[in-house]
Amino acid sequence: MKPKAAIRGLPVYEPGKPLEEVKRELGLDDVIKLASNENPFGCSPKVKERLASEFSSLPLYPEGTAPELRRALSERLKVDPEGIILGNGSDEIIQMVSRAYLETGDEAVMADKTFPRYKTQTLIEGAKPVEVPLREGVHDLSGMLRRVTDRTKILWICNPNNPTGTIVDAPSLTGFLEELPDHVLVVIDEAYAEYVTDPAYPDSVRLLEKHPRLIVLRTFSKIHGLASLRIGYGLAHPDIVRELNRVREPFNVNRLAQRAALAALEDEAFVRTCREQNRRGIEQILRRLEEWNLFYYPPHGNFILLDTGRPADEAFEFLLKRGVIVRSGKALGYPTFIRVTVGTPEQNRRFLDALGEFVAEKEADRP
Ligand SMILES: Cc1ncc(COP(=O)(O)O)c(C=O)c1O
Repeated sequence: MKPKAAIRGLPVYEPGKPLEEVKRELGLDDVIKLASNENPFGCSPKVKERLASEFSSLPLYPEGTAPELRRALSERLKVDPEGIILGNGSDEIIQMVSRAYLETGDEAVMADKTFPRYKTQTLIEGAKPVEVPLREGVHDLSGMLRRVTDRTKILWICNPNNPTGTIVDAPSLTGFLEELPDHVLVVIDEAYAEYVTDPAYPDSVRLLEKHPRLIVLRTFSKIHGLASLRIGYGLAHPDIVRELNRVREPFNVNRLAQRAALAALEDEAFVRTCREQNRRGIEQILRRLEEWNLFYYPPHGNFILLDTGRPADEAFEFLLKRGVIVRSGKALGYPTFIRVTVGTPEQNRRFLDALGEFVAEKEADRP
């Protein structure tokens, strides 16, 4: 028995190293994980209160279309509730979009160093990923435009981009959308949108009104701190959402996730606090990187991609032994970089202490 040709040789997704695994393997008690861009401040306390009210409904299937949550999102974002789809994480919406729109031989344009699920889902559908190199860590929109052909079905823009943390600004994006041929669906993945404070960041929700071939992806996994519940959403023209619903699993978003997301959405103060703490955390880390003369890409999300100047796995292992899990840049296409999630002030200090030791040791080793 052989699996279908499209998935032969496909890599299995490698997540950040789990906390429990590191504790077990290294015999450490006190480990911090700054590897998967989770929220170090947890989630809104309102979520926990609200979840309890859902426990008695656990034997019942959830409402697949999540009407209450869609209504709340539509009011918040001023969009048509028919133009919203929920997913088991935005990961699942990436899968749904690929499943609904890609056929064998189609092409999907994406950056060469970006969130890996766009490429994987493209390959699973038997389509061809067309990877366009980033320019100084930023999506090269004109380069992407040049690679669009009659076969192009989807164009992915990760904004802020994971792993670089850079953004495409509003003038560049609007100009690009004007020029793009009508047969291409553009997906803007905004998993980290709520963290962005740069005024040049596009208001993509408003762009939806003008561009019926646009899909915007958001998630409750990052600033809302609900990664374990798996819930994200897509915003698009109702015609696109109708197509996506054809390939959606019937009960894809569970009851607890829907209830928690509703509570999280209401707690705007929590989101504001996390955004502010994240901004301070970025300053705390960048100050030291500047002192050590380490290169980094300008961060707009809740993570920083920085160059250690040494093989990425060396830095990764060094930090791991000191109980700090980061992401090695090796698998991300940056063989001397690490990606670190911005943590609490204390977690950032611990990371910086360990990285400082690494930098000093490597400096001393130099001939
Ligand atoms: C850019 C980007 N998109 C999507 C996701 C998936 O998020 P979710 O937890 O909503 O599936 C992530 C998670 O790290 C991400 O970084």
